[in-house]
Amino acid sequence: MDLFDKVRKNRGALGQYSDEAHGYFMFPKLTGEIGPRMNFMGKPMLNWSLNNYIGLANHPEVRRVDGESAMKWGLAYPMGARMMSGNSDQHDLLEKQLSEFVGKEDTVLLNFGYQGIVSIIDSLLDRKDVVVYDEQSHACIIDGLRMHLGKRFVYKHNDIESCEKQLQRAEKLAEETGGGIMVITEGVFGMSGMVGCLDKIVALKSKYNFRLLVDDAHGFGTMGKTGAGTGEFLGIQEGIDVYFSTFAKSMASIGAFVSTTKEVATYLRYNMRSQIFAKTVPMPLVEGAIKRLELLRTRPELKDNLWKIVNTLQSGLKARGFNIGATQSPVTPVFLSGSVGEATQLVVDLRENYHIFCSIVVYPVVPKGVIMLRLIPTAVHTLEDVEETLNAFEKVAEKLKIGAYSNEVASMAV
Ligand SMILES: Cc1ncc(COP(=O)(O)O)c(C=O)c1O
Repeated sequence: MDLFDKVRKNRGALGQYSDEAHGYFMFPKLTGEIGPRMNFMGKPMLNWSLNNYIGLANHPEVRRVDGESAMKWGLAYPMGARMMSGNSDQHDLLEKQLSEFVGKEDTVLLNFGYQGIVSIIDSLLDRKDVVVYDEQSHACIIDGLRMHLGKRFVYKHNDIESCEKQLQRAEKLAEETGGGIMVITEGVFGMSGMVGCLDKIVALKSKYNFRLLVDDAHGFGTMGKTGAGTGEFLGIQEGIDVYFSTFAKSMASIGAFVSTTKEVATYLRYNMRSQIFAKTVPMPLVEGAIKRLELLRTRPELKDNLWKIVNTLQSGLKARGFNIGATQSPVTPVFLSGSVGEATQLVVDLRENYHIFCSIVVYPVVPKGVIMLRLIPTAVHTLEDVEETLNAFEKVAEKLKIGAYSNEVASMAV
């Protein structure tokens, strides 16, 4: 049997749709200046699919620093892994500033969030330790857990009773093995927009001995008074033992970080394999992140504008009878009922005739018969953008209701 036979037989959960969907539903190419108004297949689109929460992707000061830094350093410096030859004063400075911002003793920069989380989990746990984690955790957490040689217990999504039950099992087991317990959750869940029940989890620390790791990819920069994240929003930042976020969302860049105590950060610095054996973050990304963090700290109007758009969009959707689930964050899901065929036709209609671009999630990611459209508001959207979108959503939802999408053959060129 040839190794590649399976590539032909089973192209994977998403890959099986590549012939019909490539370039349109998957791997679309958005062109033009990054922001709410971009082009797709030659048509202008009102774009709700970028995690550019506070609008830094195209901020003139950010663009200037990115460009100047790239001119000064190129993309190579510093070469090598941080531990070997890839360190610099700017890397240290960014770590110091991030620590201050999120209220932790120390921070370690990570070249990518995904690999970073995998290595955080891998290096902090050994086979005696037990993990308790949310069932809807991001793929990088799941991959990190695949490397864990000990036991893990999954709890129902954001369900504190289920979490406590699993903690009881974990405690029993950890007593036998002599290991510790780590609880892992996201701060803001990127699909549903729900805020993780971190306050309730932290409250369980009075009953159980565990450490809490939070992936706050969607909370950093968007949640809390200063934008320091979901821990700040819920008033329990101190209860988060290991705080992780990425630069891929609010910071509109690449890279990530983990903030914790000095002792744990030093341990991570010397033990995370994906950082020790991989190239460090290049200088333009470090200097660009310093600039972005400065704007995040000193321009509260960016976050205020984000929330103005979020509140207008979410209250407008609710007022029109849309089900937006239990989001408490900028992530705005819109749940509709229909088949996968209807969902694809609805999205084609939205794009081709209303010029609105958002992502769509269907079975098997959500239950059969559920269509989830996902809108990501940003600080650079306008109230007119919201109005235009609400009107379009009202129209397509009405068409879906009367069955207008049920018999047509999906066509990309409506
Ligand atoms: C919840 C969550 N964690 C981790 C990551 C991975 O971060 P990165 O893009 O920096 O690899 C993402 C996606 O960016 C994410 O949404």
